[in-house]
Amino acid sequence: MNITEAVFAGSSTRVSQKPKQRLPEFAFIGRSNVGKSSLINMLCNSRRLAMTSSTPGKTKLVNHFLINNSWYLVDLPGYGYAKMPQKGRDELKAVIRDYILNSEEMVLLFVLIDSRHDIGKIDLDFLADLGENGVPFSIIYTKADKQGPNVLARQIEKDRQILLQQWEELPPMFASSAETGKGKEEILAYIGQTLDSITK
Ligand code: GTP
Ligand code: MG
Repeated sequence: MNITEAVFAGSSTRVSQKPKQRLPEFAFIGRSNVGKSSLINMLCNSRRLAMTSSTPGKTKLVNHFLINNSWYLVDLPGYGYAKMPQKGRDELKAVIRDYILNSEEMVLLFVLIDSRHDIGKIDLDFLADLGENGVPFSIIYTKADKQGPNVLARQIEKDRQILLQQWEELPPMFASSAETGKGKEEILAYIGQTLDSITK
C-alpha cells in the first residue's frame, strides 16, 4: 500500500455530520499527546495534514482524510487529558464514543500507546470497552525513537503479558516513530491487506 494522495475531507463532532462519501475508514485513538496526528502525517508523507501540538488536547474534532480517493484515515481526539475541565472531557468522550460505536464504515481502530510508559489503567479500560462492544482494533506503539530497540521490545513484551490477563488472543501490534518513519511500511501493508479482505 502506497499513499499517493491525502486530502482533508472534513471535521465533525457527530457521525451524522461526517463526509457523505461512504468509504472504508481506519481510525486512530489513544491518550491525548500519544502521537495520533503525528502518525497520520508520517503515514501520509505530510508535515501538516493533521494538526499536532506538544500541548495535549489539540485534536477536538473527528477529522477525515481521504486517501488515494478510496478510503479514509480518521484522526480522533485523545482521551485521558487530566488537565482539561470535566465538561470538556465529557464532551470529547461523547464525540469519541459516538464515532467508534456508530460509524458503520470504520473497519479498524488503531489504539496508540506511548512506548515509553507502561500501559495505563485508562488504556486497559478503553480496550475492555472495545472488547465488550465488539470493535475491531489493533495496537500501535508510538515514539519508538525515544528508546533503544531492546528497551522497546521489553516494554512491548511486558504489556503483552498484562493484556493477556484480559484477552485470550491479541491483535497485531506495531512499533512506530513519526520521527524516523519506523512502522510505516508494516502499518500501511496491514491496512492494504485489510482493505483487500473486505473487498473480496
Ligand atoms: P492530541 O490531539 O492532543 O490528543 O495529541 P496527539 O495524540 O494527536 O499527538 P500529536 O501528534 O499532536 O503529538 C504530540 C507531541 O508528541 C508532539 O509534540 C509531537 O511532536 C510529539 N510526537 C509525536 N509522535 C512522535 C514520535 O514518534 N517521536 C517523537 N520523538 N515525538 C513524537
Ligand atoms: Mg491530535
